[in-house]
Amino acid sequence: MQIRSLELGDIAAVAKMEAAYSGNPWSDRALFTYFVRDDTILLVADENDDKPNDQDWDPRVVGFMGLIMTAPESDILDITVLPGRRNAGIGRALMVEMFRRAEAAGVHTTYLEVRVSNAPARHLYQKMGFQQIGFRKGYYSDPEEDAIVMAKRPEPDQK
Ligand SMILES: CC(C)(COP(=O)(O)OP(=O)(O)OC[C@H]1O[C@@H](n2cnc3c(N)ncnc32)[C@H](O)[C@@H]1OP(=O)(O)O)[C@@H](O)C(=O)NCCC(=O)NCCS
Repeated sequence: MQIRSLELGDIAAVAKMEAAYSGNPWSDRALFTYFVRDDTILLVADENDDKPNDQDWDPRVVGFMGLIMTAPESDILDITVLPGRRNAGIGRALMVEMFRRAEAAGVHTTYLEVRVSNAPARHLYQKMGFQQIGFRKGYYSDPEEDAIVMAKRPEPDQK
């Protein structure tokens, strides 16, 4: 499995995965809009890396993550892993690579919102060093739900 930048050719597969499995899905249009911006990092988890580099081979995108930056701050826009591939460290791998790239771009604080009921995501974020900093009542629709706001800040000895 390889974590790599989203490419134009991944957009249809990611939009399909988003529509089916994200709590807040991105359309192909939205993905393209973020793809052409230079203040975003869009990553995919690709399980095709051990296969021959054959143009006829469909990429096997099993995860997606997007982040938007206004250095030194950034916001996680979304993270989704295919249901059959969850709990295998793919979400964590996407976040580790995302933070590596964001830090290289001058980011040291990252924010996100998460549904109160989303135990797997909250667990992952806590493990990655996020802490709850706020609460937004009725933030989500379809179904309506409150959001927890979380932040990952630098360690006290870091800037
Ligand atoms: C959130 C999500 C991206 C995590 O992806 P993942 O690849 O399963 O994550 P990982 O395998 O790296 O880590 C999952 C962690 O959550 C834990 N977890 C899994 N299901 C859980 C549950 N129901 N309750 C609590 N923790 C849970 C795992 O045990 C693991 O922690 P561990 O390392 O301590 O064992 C995935 O669940 C997902 O796509 N959810 C739907 C989309 C979504 O809600 N995105 C977040 C929007 S804010």
